[in-house]
Amino acid sequence: MNDQSFKPVTYDPSNVLIEGTGLSASELTKLAPRLVAARDEVLADLEMVNTGATVPSAKQPLDAGFIDLPDRLLAAYRSDNDASEVGRIISAAQRLGEMVDRFVVIGIGGSYMGARSLFESCCHPYHNELSREARRGKPRMYFVGNNVDNDDTQGLLDVLGRGRRADGAGERWGVIVVSKSGGTLEPAVALRQFLSFMRQSLGDDQTLLPKLVIPVTGRDSNLFNLVTELGCDAIFDIPDNIGGRYSILTAVGLAPAAVLGLDIVKLLEGAAAMNARFRTASPGENPVLDYVGVCHLMEAQRAATIRVMTVWSQGLEALGMWYDQLLSESLGKDERGATPLTAVNTRDLHSRGQQHQQGRRDKLITNVVLDEFKREPLPVGSSGLNQDNLNAIAEKTMPELMSAAINGTKRAYREDRRPTADIHLPRSDEASIGQLYQMLMLATIVEGRLIGINPYGQPGVEAYKKHMKSILSGEE
Ligand code: PA5
Repeated sequence: MNDQSFKPVTYDPSNVLIEGTGLSASELTKLAPRLVAARDEVLADLEMVNTGATVPSAKQPLDAGFIDLPDRLLAAYRSDNDASEVGRIISAAQRLGEMVDRFVVIGIGGSYMGARSLFESCCHPYHNELSREARRGKPRMYFVGNNVDNDDTQGLLDVLGRGRRADGAGERWGVIVVSKSGGTLEPAVALRQFLSFMRQSLGDDQTLLPKLVIPVTGRDSNLFNLVTELGCDAIFDIPDNIGGRYSILTAVGLAPAAVLGLDIVKLLEGAAAMNARFRTASPGENPVLDYVGVCHLMEAQRAATIRVMTVWSQGLEALGMWYDQLLSESLGKDERGATPLTAVNTRDLHSRGQQHQQGRRDKLITNVVLDEFKREPLPVGSSGLNQDNLNAIAEKTMPELMSAAINGTKRAYREDRRPTADIHLPRSDEASIGQLYQMLMLATIVEGRLIGINPYGQPGVEAYKKHMKSILSGEE
């Protein structure tokens, strides 16, 4: 793997070093041996999973299989090409992409948020509004089954039905259905409804139906049995030792990304490059350990129980929400765990900015900053209508305005002794985003080991499911 072919994601905590309200360099140095021990534990967990050793009950569930997954997938792709998992995903995705003009990802929680963040960060911001040609021949993408919202579901059915012509033919649409357990109610209901609608819209051509559905699920689940009965030939597995919110780099995220034509190999290479840094770099040069160290100390020593991830690009909002879920479900246990919050700036400077500047001192702000935008810089432009007084900055471009906003906000927070750290993303593309996913997943499990919380599993979520089921079955 050539991890030099793209720029690294970096972490800069220099604006956290504020006496009194932030951290001191010596506090970070003192924590370093514990961070290294937590990394060792994480790598020992992986070894346990890979060798099939018995997992002690205190460590169960242990879903550490995601850690070296990018490396394993890339190695298999290089040796077995089309027959490898990545090769199979690419060809199934291409097949579906050529057959349909729209596709729907059915899934909830870890089974859809990653795909959404890939869509928003790596595709054209108005992908679904573009012509097929402008979409480089790729289909439009929608999400459903992440709620039980009557109007939203029917709204999407309207959109899918809209492409039909009077003779019953029309733009075809397909489905990627994702559920590791294969028994979650929301996606199961959506699949049933959307399959029924698909059947109606296919008219006499029912043989197409199994070709229009790509399922991603655990073996022997209800969903697996249903799609096997349906005759789907391309069914993708979610390995047992990889949990929902850590599954973005399995077929869960890779299949929808590949249908959109994203470079899933670059995505995996980014993640593998982050793995290499995580395994070998010392604290102070290790983005994963440094991020955990700052977040942990700010929470433990400065009561910063709220972690605001401020993304300075509209396209990164869903990535922030993916991370909200990752952190909440992983560490929000035993009455502990920081509360994550995503802010999108400059938008939210006009909604949350006041509180972040002058509210309770219970927050650590981590900026996610793009070093480069994909498009040519757009200038403000001069105008004969200068009532807005913008001619003075007519030559300035949008990236320059963004940079002034970022630096101005950081300076204002520093003046108020508010700690901020920065994650720098070279670009909003597959290689950078792959690094960031892996960095944040690794950071979450390292922090779990550091503070003694099992980051895997989500026992609390079972309670609502149980009650909902008994209400629906009329038991109460
Ligand atoms: O992280 C998790 O494990 C959860 O958020 C799951 O992804 C979510 O509950 C959906 O579960 P499933 O994929 O089994 O339908």
